[in-house]
Amino acid sequence: MNGKVYETIIARRTVRKFRQDRISADILERLVNAARLAPSAMNMQPLRYAVISTPSIAGRIFDCVKWARYIAPAGDPGPDEKPVAYIAILVDASVREKGYEEDVGAAAQNIMLAAWEEGIGSCWMGSIDREKIRNILNLEKGMILDTVIALGYKGEEPVYEEERGSIKYYKDETGLLHVPKKGLTDIMKTY
Ligand SMILES: Cc1cc2nc3c(=O)[nH]c(=O)nc-3n(C[C@H](O)[C@H](O)[C@H](O)COP(=O)(O)O)c2cc1C
Repeated sequence: MNGKVYETIIARRTVRKFRQDRISADILERLVNAARLAPSAMNMQPLRYAVISTPSIAGRIFDCVKWARYIAPAGDPGPDEKPVAYIAILVDASVREKGYEEDVGAAAQNIMLAAWEEGIGSCWMGSIDREKIRNILNLEKGMILDTVIALGYKGEEPVYEEERGSIKYYKDETGLLHVPKKGLTDIMKTY
C-alpha cells in the first residue's frame, strides 16, 4: 500500500514549532473544505469553523492553549515559533447537542492531513481555555467550542517509533521529538 493518503497518514506528526510564513486564505479555505466533506453521522453536519489568521487574534488564542503536557515546557513553541493560524471546530447545538464527537474527529483529521500535504504542520489542541476563546471569538450561546487546530509551516520534523514500555513522547539530546506508537501486534487481533 503506497497511495498518497496512506503516505501522508504515516508521515504526519503533531508539530509544535512553526515557521512564521503566513498561510494564504486560499489554503485555509481548502482545509475547511476538507473538513466540510468529512463523514458525518446521519449526515447532520453540525460542525462550523472559525478560521483565525489575523496576527493579533492568533496571539490571543495562543495564550489560551497548553502544549505537550508530558514534556512541558520543552514542547512549547518559542516566541518565533508560534502557530500563525488556528481553525476552531464548533458545533451548532441547534443541529446536535451531543453525539457530535466522532464528527469532530473525522473533520479534525481531514484538516490535519490536508495541511500536511501543503507542508503545514498542525497540533490538535484539546487542553484549551474554552471560556476565554469563546469571548475572543464572540461565539453565540448556541455554539459549542470543541477543538482548536493550531497551524503553521513546519518548524520541526518529529518522528514516531515503536513503543517500548512508555507511551510518553520525549525529546532526545538534539531536540528531536520522538512519538512512541503501540505495535500492531499489541493492538490488533484477527478473526
Ligand atoms: C483529542 C486530542 C487532544 C489533544 N490536545 C493536545 C493539547 O492540548 N496540547 C498538545 O500539545 N497536544 C495535544 N494533542 C496532540 C497529541 O499529544 C498527539 O497527537 C500525540 O502526542 C501523538 O502524536 P502524533 O499526533 O504526532 O501522532 C491532542 C491530540 C488529540 C487527539
